[in-house]
Amino acid sequence: MKVIFDTDPGIDDAMALLYLSKLPEIELLGITTVVGNADIATTTRNALFLRQRFGLAAPVIQGAGETLDGKVKPEPVAVHGHNGLGDIEIPAHVDETGLRAGTAAQFIIDTLRAHPGEVTIIAVGRMTNLALALRQDPAIAGLAKQVVIMGGAFGYEGRSGNITPAAEANIYGDPVAADEIFAAGWPVVVVGLDVTHDIILSEDYLAALSAEVGENGELLRQMSDHYARFYKEIMGLAGVVGHDLLAVTYTLRPDWFETRSGPICVVRDGIAAGQTIQMPAARKGGHPDWANRPAQLVCTAVHADAVLRHYRETV
Ligand code: BDR
Ligand code: CA
Repeated sequence: MKVIFDTDPGIDDAMALLYLSKLPEIELLGITTVVGNADIATTTRNALFLRQRFGLAAPVIQGAGETLDGKVKPEPVAVHGHNGLGDIEIPAHVDETGLRAGTAAQFIIDTLRAHPGEVTIIAVGRMTNLALALRQDPAIAGLAKQVVIMGGAFGYEGRSGNITPAAEANIYGDPVAADEIFAAGWPVVVVGLDVTHDIILSEDYLAALSAEVGENGELLRQMSDHYARFYKEIMGLAGVVGHDLLAVTYTLRPDWFETRSGPICVVRDGIAAGQTIQMPAARKGGHPDWANRPAQLVCTAVHADAVLRHYRETV
């Protein structure tokens, strides 16, 4: 399966990238970066560092450093630390040979055009790069096999936002981009907080990764120390949430998920900016904001035990 990984590393982004590196079914074509868990220079540096650590051949292509509305909305450092990777020590010089010139948006366009109908985009940061690619070349919507997104909170399983009561961080970070992605005619699957909050990596689980996976397992465990403090103090959770790795699981094992189909809108501004709302597919017609949009899939439930077992066995 050909994959573009669009990311803002990010601790759970690193977990997802290690997963991708170990799956023989996945042919990783490129890692595109976006501002989010840190600024764009930092997320790109982190992607290069992780690429080298995980022995990946795919190039890194730097993407958007600003959101479509031009607002700078840095993620609170409490979540991923100052360096985006839980403030673990990163070598001062990372290997930049994997950095490819050009923009992430152009890379997405060129790759979809080179492999029509074959490429899955897994997007686990703000959706700015994808929206820029779509604006530049709207026909690419007909060329992607599938777009799997980590983002949003739809109220299924009673889940609300994480950065505000209404919004999840990736969508809040660029609600205009997200709204454009959901309105486009490509098949989108949304892996949001409705399911990612079922994927809790406990202290014991992380210790097992460290013991069984070796130095990259230990790297994930060290990064997660910072992340765990945030989840304990702010969210009252014992463990860390593996949001982004779940988008990877979906591409391989959609049968472990339940989904709902229907058009999706994003609140673009105001107090509820970034809120994601899905209309049930059964409710046909209605207001043109909804009726003119394609039905997309939102994950509403997941077999969490199977996911956690598969992740541990794979990495
Ligand atoms: C999402 O926001 C980022 O902090 C994480 O990497 C994840 O993609 C969770 O809301
Ligand atoms: Ca992310």
